[in-house]
Amino acid sequence: MSEGKKLQGKVAIITGGASGIGEATAHLFALNGARAVVIADVQDEKGRKVAEAIGKDVGAFVHCDVTDEDQVRSTVEWTARTYGQLDIMFSNAGIVSESDQTVLDLDFSQMDQLIAINARGAAACVKHAARDMVERRVRGSIVCTASVAASTGTQRRTDYVMSKHAVLGLVRAASRQLGEHGIRVNCVSPYAVATPLLCRSHRKEAEEVEKAFEPMVPLKGIVLQVEHVAEAVLFLASDESVFVSGHDLVVDGAFLGK
Ligand SMILES: NC(=O)c1ccc[n+]([C@@H]2O[C@H](COP(=O)([O-])OP(=O)(O)OC[C@H]3O[C@@H](n4cnc5c(N)ncnc54)[C@H](O)[C@@H]3O)[C@@H](O)[C@H]2O)c1
Repeated sequence: MSEGKKLQGKVAIITGGASGIGEATAHLFALNGARAVVIADVQDEKGRKVAEAIGKDVGAFVHCDVTDEDQVRSTVEWTARTYGQLDIMFSNAGIVSESDQTVLDLDFSQMDQLIAINARGAAACVKHAARDMVERRVRGSIVCTASVAASTGTQRRTDYVMSKHAVLGLVRAASRQLGEHGIRVNCVSPYAVATPLLCRSHRKEAEEVEKAFEPMVPLKGIVLQVEHVAEAVLFLASDESVFVSGHDLVVDGAFLGK
């Protein structure tokens, strides 16, 4: 992991920060000088542990279910009140449905729950982070986790593909609308990475998941890890990307070939 001062003095919220990509990014933000990293998640015990692990002075945990707009609003308000402002929102919380359906078997109650987290939840995070940044005149950076499934169809998991296309739409619209306030909005789009989310949905151990996905990636000799995704998020969150907005940074070893 790169250690430096890319986020010196910055205050960040990471939704879904208790696990996987969010957890790795929380560590990387702290290593890069962030003043505060607020883990916003529904997994209280894991979230608290991550906050403790990155250091009591920097890490904090807030219970936040992104499907509830009030919880998102109060997480942003608590962060800004406690640390003086919010510089970075990493909207990353996400799930996959239990069933790996095609459209023929689409389960609408599962789909509603997934859209509520992956798409609607992301919109709530962008909205409330941006409102706070506008109010305090902060030239902030908002990063969302989309997916390679944001710009291609897949054989299964219709609802997930739909939700990630929506995240990309959100990023494209919000980046144009918030530019006048100096706020940047981007997303990262990882290929498959063996987090609890992916292992659970494939009912496989991390190593088996990695083996199953590896053949489809043109780039050989390396397996995608959460730390690789976190480095891409760090770039978008930091001033290294000052003129990058509305961008979908794919981290996919040329899987999409775009
Ligand atoms: N793992 C992959 O292969 C992959 C690929 C592309 C995109 N993604 C995306 O990356 C993001 C992070 O996923 P991950 O792979 O690290 O999985 P993960 O399961 O390790 O982490 C997801 C986190 O989101 C939290 N979360 C779930 N519902 C929530 C809610 N309602 N409110 C707040 N937090 C909630 C979970 O508690 C968990 O801590 C997701 O948006 C996912 O869609 C993952």
